[in-house]
Amino acid sequence: MKKDKILVIGACGQIGTELTAALGLQYGIENVIAADIQTHPAGVKNYICLDALDHQQIERVVRECDVTQIYLLAAMLSANGEKDINAAWRLNVQSLMSVLQIARDQKLDKVFWPSSIAVFGPGSAKYNCRQHARSEPITVYGISKKAGEHFCNYYFENFGVDVRSLRFPGLISYTAPPGGGATDYAVDIYHQALEKEQYTGFLEDDCCLPMMYMPDAIRATLELMNAPKEKIAIRTSYNIAGMSFAPCDIAAAIRKHIPSFKMSTVPDFRQAIAQSWPASIDDQQAHNDWGWKPAFDLRRMTEDMLMNLSRQKGVEFEMAANIEPVIDFYPHEH
Ligand code: SER
Repeated sequence: MKKDKILVIGACGQIGTELTAALGLQYGIENVIAADIQTHPAGVKNYICLDALDHQQIERVVRECDVTQIYLLAAMLSANGEKDINAAWRLNVQSLMSVLQIARDQKLDKVFWPSSIAVFGPGSAKYNCRQHARSEPITVYGISKKAGEHFCNYYFENFGVDVRSLRFPGLISYTAPPGGGATDYAVDIYHQALEKEQYTGFLEDDCCLPMMYMPDAIRATLELMNAPKEKIAIRTSYNIAGMSFAPCDIAAAIRKHIPSFKMSTVPDFRQAIAQSWPASIDDQQAHNDWGWKPAFDLRRMTEDMLMNLSRQKGVEFEMAANIEPVIDFYPHEH
């Protein structure tokens, strides 16, 4: 049997930073190639500098390193995408087309590509938005993810490429910064709470969105990719849910630990993007097909974020009493 050899494109981004480490634990660090467009970041093993739009370079790496799986994470998110429509479309769709073609031609075992809740739009159900709900995205990011989902399905149906995908909600982590989306506030708010005890957000107080803590997102990715092929009924992209909250909810969760924390709001163009998305997601299909179940809610995530960020920043912070320990469902290195 061929040895698993993993190529992660976009390894230095918000998802890539943690997923690359997780894949290293599963497959052995020597079998995971971390690729990103930036010059070699300190401490990253097995690294190559690679442009996700360079088809030939990807093909060469796959051939020369006997790659069997690609995780394509390079993307331009919703807010940044609106600032450069062509660049967003090119990066989000062209890189996927390259990877799918290479996967077909080089007979790769598997491909992972993240989609997003941004495939939904104002016409989609606001609450418990279902797997096959109407989806008419209004951002170039959402449009590119929707097109990408259908290309994934096309390559599976026509060429048997085993490509798997998740529609990620807003992702929150303390390791790498988010990449220019409408949900970025939910990371920044923790940093500002610890540094200044106040935060000025860009979404309305009650703008509720689907969100997920990064350990859940990483575990979901590994569980999807490790599931038997016959269990994967959805070849566009799976709805997955973690939690749903609005800025006022996350502020209240932070205030349990930092009572003096104050939040104000100056909404900008990201409000219209966020408002076009569902507030909550129905992920029954992912649960039924491969057993998806999130572990972190807002309270647990807030404890974990504040604890880890305060350590990182060297900021004095005392967690409120009577807090249950957070269970590390996914064993990642801190
Ligand atoms: N976090 C993403 C964004 O805001 C949603 O997938 O663009």
